[in-house]
Order: sequence, then structure tokens, then C-alpha cells
Amino acid sequence: MNNIVLIGFMGCGKSTVGIKLSYKLRRIVEDTDKLIEKKAGKSISDIFKEEGEPYFRQMETECLKELLHTKDEKILATGGGLPMRKENHVLLKQLGCVLYLRISPQCVYERLKNDTSRPLLQCEDPLDRIRSLLAQRAPVYEEAADLVIDVDGKDMEQIITEIVQKLRDYGYLPEEESSISK
Ligand code: S3P
Repeated sequence: MNNIVLIGFMGCGKSTVGIKLSYKLRRIVEDTDKLIEKKAGKSISDIFKEEGEPYFRQMETECLKELLHTKDEKILATGGGLPMRKENHVLLKQLGCVLYLRISPQCVYERLKNDTSRPLLQCEDPLDRIRSLLAQRAPVYEEAADLVIDVDGKDMEQIITEIVQKLRDYGYLPEEESSISK
């Protein structure tokens, strides 16, 4: 399929990049976290609290499988922990071009220090948690990705321009879509 799939750590900008890219490329955007919340009828925090993390992880895999049966040419933003399940890598690749938005722990911390919607970061020392989670996850994101974009210190416009350029360079955008972005 030829979706554009965004992966990366919490706070790297997958949802915002997804929306901006969808305007730029005139494609529909979907967000696995939002699809899961809709299906469960409750927030991610409540799913973690009431059903536990393994249940949420299973919902993520189901969500990818369901997306395989929907129309493609979408932008798909994914939850930060989704690539950690090996079986999800195959599904991600089947869905399309996997784009990793790479961010540093310090930058994640600055962006999310007042956020209460990420259950995994509600702890004594969120910076330490971010560092250790990211150390574990970074190699897995790289392994799952077709393309990598560094986001630290860049504004949204720069990031979008860079993404579109890379997608063109690597042949992931068909001709007519390449001409949309000026
Ligand atoms: C998670 C990231 C969150 C959400 C859940 C778990 C993770 O998504 O799926 O809180 O394990 O990193 P975002 O990456 O959109 O914050």
C-alpha cells in the first residue's frame, strides 16, 4: 500500500506533522491513538488504567490490521510505543513508507513536561523515563523506518518541506503529488 506512516517517540510531532502533511498532499490523515480511543469509547489514559498496557498494545496491532483493509494513500500517525512489537513491523511495512521523526530526550521533555495525557510519563522523574525509554526504542524505530527525519530545533514548516523532499527523492510520492508542494 502507499500510505505514509509516521513513527517516533511521544512528543516528536507525529499528529501535528500528520495534519500538516495531509493539507499539503491533500490526503486523509488517521491517528492510531484516536482510532483506538474511538473504538474503546475511552481515553488512552483510561484504557491503560482500566484494561492495562498489554490490552492497549493488542488494540494497536488490531488497528494496523484493520487499516490494511481500508483505502490507502493516507497519512497514518502512530502511537510512540507501537513499533516495539516486532509483529507490527511487518504490518507497518505493508501499510506503506515508514517515516521516523527522530527527537532527543531533552526536546521531548521540554515539549511534554506539563502534559498529563501520556500514562508512561506520569512518574517522579519524567526526563529519566524519557531517556531510558528512548534508549530502548531508538534502535527499534530505526529498524522499522524507511526514512528518518531529525526534528530537534526545526520549525514545522522546515520539517514538512524536508519530509516532502525526502519522499520525492526516494520515489514515495507519485508525480502529480510531487507537484502539489511548492
Ligand atoms: C505511547 C505513546 C502515546 C500513546 C500511549 C503510549 C508510548 O502516543 O500511544 O500513551 O508507549 O510511547 P503518542 O506517541 O502519540 O504520544
